[in-house]
Amino acid sequence: MSGIFISFEGPDGAGKTTALNSLTPKLKALTEQEIVVSREPGGSPIAEKIRKIILDIHDQEMDDRTEALLYAAARRQHLVDVILPTLNADKILLSDRFVDSSIAYQGGGREIGTKEVAEINDFAIDGHLPDLTIYFDISPEVGLSRIRKDHQQAMDRLEKASLDFHKRVHDSYLKLVHDNPDRIVSINADQAPDQVVEDAVNVIIQRFPNVFNGGR
Ligand SMILES: Nc1ncnc2c1ncn2[C@@H]1O[C@H](COP(=O)(O)OP(=O)(O)O)[C@@H](O)[C@H]1O
Ligand SMILES: [Mg+2]
Repeated sequence: MSGIFISFEGPDGAGKTTALNSLTPKLKALTEQEIVVSREPGGSPIAEKIRKIILDIHDQEMDDRTEALLYAAARRQHLVDVILPTLNADKILLSDRFVDSSIAYQGGGREIGTKEVAEINDFAIDGHLPDLTIYFDISPEVGLSRIRKDHQQAMDRLEKASLDFHKRVHDSYLKLVHDNPDRIVSINADQAPDQVVEDAVNVIIQRFPNVFNGGR
């Protein structure tokens, strides 16, 4: 496999999706390799169906472990349908969230246990970790205030959870960053959008200088 797999992680409101939108064309200008952007939960037809169940505001009675298993199931399908074929075709895959989200949200946030959630995800991803993960660091307070400003309309089931939940998610992310220094690079997401994008692009260029070299 010769493609490159990069995931983007961080709490809700950290600015991952915003940054990916403007970062992708910048990266495309720097490489001849094709870039594919995807997201979780979802990213392929079956995985998107599972996403709808997970995020449905009406599923308030969903058991925490059921939720964790659904995320892992959606991830497995996304991996098989999109990620692995993309990497096998020597392309670059950018994923808005991947396995660290489950460890932080279900393991830490829902308090199932990060080890337990990592184990079911090991089964799902079968060793296919990202080559690089960019972690968008933001305090839970700032992240949540951005989301609230965003949708005065309905928040999805997970975003409705308490500030304490989001603090546990944040703590779990920080532990993941600490425990995976070779894979995860943290950037300060509490900066102007252009600066966040510039920092993320620089991390990627530094990690893969032979790939993002202006197409030379
Ligand atoms: N660097 C930034 N500074 C201020 N607001 C931002 C920044 N990046 C994104 N936002 C805003 O914050 C909200 C959440 O951004 P989004 O990209 O959806 O976050 P995420 O995908 O990480 O949940 C959006 O309203 C977006 O416009
Ligand atoms: Mg997003």
